[in-house]
Amino acid sequence: MRLTIAPVPDGAMAVLAALHAACFREGWPAASFAALLATPGAFALLASRQVSSSSPVPVGFIACRAAAAECEVLSLGVAAQARGQRIGQRLLEAAEAAARLRGARMMFLEVAADNLSARALYARLPYIEVGKRSRYYTREGLNSVDALVLRHDLGDDETPSCDPPGLSPHDRGF
Ligand SMILES: CC(C)(COP(=O)(O)OP(=O)(O)OC[C@H]1O[C@@H](n2cnc3c(N)ncnc32)[C@H](O)[C@@H]1OP(=O)(O)O)[C@@H](O)C(=O)NCCC(=O)NCCS
Repeated sequence: MRLTIAPVPDGAMAVLAALHAACFREGWPAASFAALLATPGAFALLASRQVSSSSPVPVGFIACRAAAAECEVLSLGVAAQARGQRIGQRLLEAAEAAARLRGARMMFLEVAADNLSARALYARLPYIEVGKRSRYYTREGLNSVDALVLRHDLGDDETPSCDPPGLSPHDRGF
């Protein structure tokens, strides 16, 4: 089984939207992804899994926006049947490599305090807590939940830990 992580092709906005809808309660339509990726500094990566000679199956995505020395992770998701295999980590590391190529030195993201899978992944890299938005997320029938703002320093002269195939600053979206 082979996992590839690559920039999202122009015609694959519906694939991104489908993965997003499978991972989050409030989906982003394909048009929203197209509009996002048309903004300066925005990029998205798709993880696809291939078993022997079968067609690659999309299993995860990450969408980010880089501006100057900072890059924000806007969304990250892995299909339920593919979780727990470090695909989320590989997507995040690939996004960090892409962000470095764009000149970013820090990654930022936001996570709900009760999202323990995501927090385990971020802690591993490690992302550290630098802020908190109290009761930011609402939960049906429950109290609202804090949003934690996390940061990961990419360093000045680190070699990218993971170069997605074909990744260069000249690629669309990078
Ligand atoms: C958060 C998410 C992207 C992590 O992706 P992933 O590929 O499962 O990430 P990893 O394999 O690196 O594992 C993350 C953690 O998930 C937990 N996990 C392990 N197996 C799991 C499984 N089968 N199913 C769900 N979570 C599992 C573990 O805590 C693991 O950390 P650990 O290995 O150190 O114990 C994924 O769970 C997801 O898409 N969730 C829904 C959307 C979401 O919450 N996105 C993040 C918003 S901030």
